[in-house]
Amino acid sequence: MVLANSFFASLLLLATAKPMASHTMVVHESRVAPAEGFVQSAAAPAEQELTLRIALKQNNIAGLETELYKVSDPASEFYGQHLTLEEVTKFVKPMDETLAAVSSWLSKNNIDAKPVTPTGDMLEIKIPVSQANDLLSAEFSVFTHVKTGKSIIRTLQYSLPAPLTQHVDFFHPTTIFAPPLNSMPKFVAANPAKRATPSSNNLPDSCASTMTPACLQLLYGIPITPATQQSNRLGVAGFIDEFANQADLTAFLTSFRPDINSSTTFALETLDGGSNPQNDPGLEADLDIQYTIGLATGVPVVFISAGDDNPDGLNGFLDMIVFLINNPNRPSVLSTSYSFQAETDLPLSVAIDLCNKYMQLGALGTSLLFSSGDGGVSGGQGGSCGDFVPPFPAGCPFITSVGSTGGINQNAGINEIGSSFSSGGFSNYFPIPDFQAKDVAAYLAFLDSLGTIPESGRFNRSGRGFPDVSAQGENFGIVFGNQPGTVAGTSCSTPTFASVIALLNDELVAAGKPTLGFLNPFLYSAAGRAALNDVSFGDNPGCATDGFFGHAGWDAVTGLGTPNYPALRTAVGL
Ligand SMILES: *[C@@H]1O[C@H](CO)[C@@H](O)[C@H](O)[C@H]1NC(C)=O
Ligand SMILES: *[C@@H]1O[C@H](CO)[C@@H](O)[C@H](O)[C@H]1NC(C)=O
Repeated sequence: MVLANSFFASLLLLATAKPMASHTMVVHESRVAPAEGFVQSAAAPAEQELTLRIALKQNNIAGLETELYKVSDPASEFYGQHLTLEEVTKFVKPMDETLAAVSSWLSKNNIDAKPVTPTGDMLEIKIPVSQANDLLSAEFSVFTHVKTGKSIIRTLQYSLPAPLTQHVDFFHPTTIFAPPLNSMPKFVAANPAKRATPSSNNLPDSCASTMTPACLQLLYGIPITPATQQSNRLGVAGFIDEFANQADLTAFLTSFRPDINSSTTFALETLDGGSNPQNDPGLEADLDIQYTIGLATGVPVVFISAGDDNPDGLNGFLDMIVFLINNPNRPSVLSTSYSFQAETDLPLSVAIDLCNKYMQLGALGTSLLFSSGDGGVSGGQGGSCGDFVPPFPAGCPFITSVGSTGGINQNAGINEIGSSFSSGGFSNYFPIPDFQAKDVAAYLAFLDSLGTIPESGRFNRSGRGFPDVSAQGENFGIVFGNQPGTVAGTSCSTPTFASVIALLNDELVAAGKPTLGFLNPFLYSAAGRAALNDVSFGDNPGCATDGFFGHAGWDAVTGLGTPNYPALRTAVGL
């Protein structure tokens, strides 16, 4: 906050420097119609106050990317030397000309701006609809999301004075129509009559019908002994009024972790008016809390709850990241089991900005794990899709995308197979990053070797491939609303993989070493991939096709594979 205030002062100072003459307005972003599922209902009330964010051009985001890879590539001499906020700020703060131009324009219009980020790359203004319409040659209207009845104020087009276009990435939220976030693992109440099928490995047969922390510990070699480092926290992101329930956690621990204190609890941090009322358990939040506290034994877990008061137009997705960049005690791992069903739910400008904010958090040393999504290659669009639908943020290279496996009850030799619901594929927004270039090329060559198949031509061959890794995600035993049952989804896999990383971090901190930070360059390195169980079976159907196929090495169903804790321990130098 101190940083933010001093930035604000310098912004005002620059504001008095150069008044700007009036200029022609240039359309900055536009769309012909609102996104599917939204209808325009009325003009927005002239007096209603709008909170708008202005994303300013960052001075050297490419420089930050270079720096990020230097500290995240195990082969680099700078590996593990995560950046400070001051170092990140040097790359992402706007240039002086940018600040001068924007602040002079705002002050000419008597508008106060306040920085949203400590790095100064995003400003917030509050102005009435009438003024926003004038300022941006826009037509802010009320749009209603038909399914939920929720109303938002947006415009189909806005303009900027010509000299400002080179300084501003975008105004937000203006032309964005983000549908509600997707999470929703499926809950099945316990059925005592369900019989377990014998498993082919040394897991108890019961693991085939109900996955538990004990099964995962056995399957992946995850340690049971408690972590020791209180500074190493594991964050669980909460959105869309999903609340983590302590009573459900206690009941879960009593059943599934009788060896640890069943009253183990978690810290709560909130943003955007978030809270965690205990009378309204959420399935996703319960699952995420139970499989972090239940697996990352002894690691302090913090539930970070984003409320509904989110001016980011993204259900708090952007605010969550800004909150963490601002937070000097940010967790070393963040597990997020929410996603947007389609990249195109976000305009490219906004998707790139958000992805770059994940880059900042990675450079600061936080590992970001996101569920890949539960709609196979369809992104949840059912059979109606032609081209495959990549979800967001799976395609952002600066996060680790986690897919799902199941099938521990398969016959001899097959331990895990990709889950049919597990989203995987290729981004249309983000190109292939270097760390996976060879893997994607090899996988595309494999697909080509199959000849012309229904999948051909339905995905982007130059896009970033996902998921990066996977973990079990079927039949997870949980307690929800005081009722035992099972759930499935990449929402199960993500806290599982995040817990593995949090436990490795605990050991690294105890050994006086840095935490893992941005994971992908390590995971794709020779040592990293050798410490994962390659899963080469399964497919992820959608859009009236079988989707992608599992294959030896990286594939677009299970990524590089599932964790092998003892091997990962060695691979990270413990
Ligand atoms: C169990 O955890 C709770 C909550 O942290 C704590 O108050 C209690 O003392 C612990 N009990 C034992 C036996 O350690
Ligand atoms: C495919 O991906 C590339 C790289 O991200 C991108 O430039 C291109 O626009 C994408 N093509 C389509 C049709 O989306």
